[in-house]
Amino acid sequence: MDRKSNPKLSDGTLLSDLINLETREVKMRALSDPELFELEMERIFAKTWVFLGHETEIPNKGDFVVRDMGSDSVLMARGADGEVYVSLNVCPHRGMKISTHDVGNTMTHVCIYHGWAFKPNGDFIGAPVEKECMHGKMMTKQELGLKKARVAIYGGLVFATWNVEGPSFEDFLGDAKWYFDTLWCRTDKGMEVLGPPQRFTIRANWKTACEQSASDGFHVLTLHRWLSEVGPYRKPGSEGGGGDLTPEMYGTEVYTAHAHTMRCIELDRKIRRLTGKDPSELSIKEKLEALPPPGITPEMLPEVLRRFSDDQLRVMAWRPPQVGNFFPNGLFEFVYIPSPDGVIGVMALHAYVPKGPDKLEFVNWILAEKDTPPELKAKMLRLGVQLLGTSGMVEQDDSDTWPHQTLAAKGAVSKHITMKYQSMYENNRLEGWPGPGDVGDGFTKDDTQWRWWEYWYELMTAEN
Ligand code: FES
Ligand SMILES: [Fe+2]
Repeated sequence: MDRKSNPKLSDGTLLSDLINLETREVKMRALSDPELFELEMERIFAKTWVFLGHETEIPNKGDFVVRDMGSDSVLMARGADGEVYVSLNVCPHRGMKISTHDVGNTMTHVCIYHGWAFKPNGDFIGAPVEKECMHGKMMTKQELGLKKARVAIYGGLVFATWNVEGPSFEDFLGDAKWYFDTLWCRTDKGMEVLGPPQRFTIRANWKTACEQSASDGFHVLTLHRWLSEVGPYRKPGSEGGGGDLTPEMYGTEVYTAHAHTMRCIELDRKIRRLTGKDPSELSIKEKLEALPPPGITPEMLPEVLRRFSDDQLRVMAWRPPQVGNFFPNGLFEFVYIPSPDGVIGVMALHAYVPKGPDKLEFVNWILAEKDTPPELKAKMLRLGVQLLGTSGMVEQDDSDTWPHQTLAAKGAVSKHITMKYQSMYENNRLEGWPGPGDVGDGFTKDDTQWRWWEYWYELMTAEN
């Protein structure tokens, strides 16, 4: 494969032949090609910031989990100094996988092949038969450590990149930070995971899940139609359960330079139903009391009010970001679920980890604020797993489409079909919308997903 900025696949197809920036189309072939996959691992996952998990998964010194950054296994561990480190899970001696466990605690990671040992921060400790200097004298001990990634912790979320001299994490987040702060940085103590993540493997290309996670709104109306017919959004007594999810499709969609996107869904109808009052007559505080962010109790609300600007609070009480992505492969979901105990907010995070051109691992975490009372955490966990977990109905819907798309991407004829992203916002920014980024207002459109593909293309054709 030619690796110039417009890579050529071995059959002569240029990367630019797969995407039409004018008509907003992408050839299906992009969802299955093994050469493209290899290039994505190098040009996207080995270059950009990748979401790996939450620091509360490894609370104690020596705790570690093994994760993937694209096609590379990494060790995400808490060092003796209490910091989180991400190192390549490959022994620098002869390339054995250092940790063959998924999770554990140790201050010394010993390679099972020849016994070289490393600290949780990746530093080389030593090799057996020290007096014979098994590791040789050609390199210093500093040079024999595991390869270390650059780490950023944001609201407890752990991100890492191999591009140690590259753009900062703040730069990567860009305009999304203003919104994401309202999701991940709501309280002084922060959030925690409610148990280890669920995982399952899907026979689909990672991009099928990830381009959907870049705020595809339309599929909710059809693929998740059961939500309003028999599910939690059913209107008791109504014919067919109500069956209309279109009101949920209105709001504001935000898309940023680095393809983080979000759907900020209107809460007015829910607040009117809960309070019996016109939301325009309620203060921000009253609205947040009526429909608090997930895991926030009335006692915790003053803390939330203190932490944000008036503009951020206005968005939180009016059109909070409720579903969206971290480019390249993370998704967040924050949903209000009607339950017999009232409306309960639930927070979930997914990573869609590439495992090959037609395989991905779906990883799901449910989170709550550390200060959320235990009974509420238990409800959030149960509802989150039921709806958004690996056995959850919503994710079963979604993950049924991805393998079909991946298979279609291999058909001799169907691989030439294009995916279309031609539903566009016409009058963009809602007057008075206080947040940054590119903003579309009204019914959901394709602009967020198209931004995802534009940025994918930008990275795939970058010079170095
Ligand atoms: S490969 Fe790890 S010690 Fe030899
Ligand atoms: Fe979905």
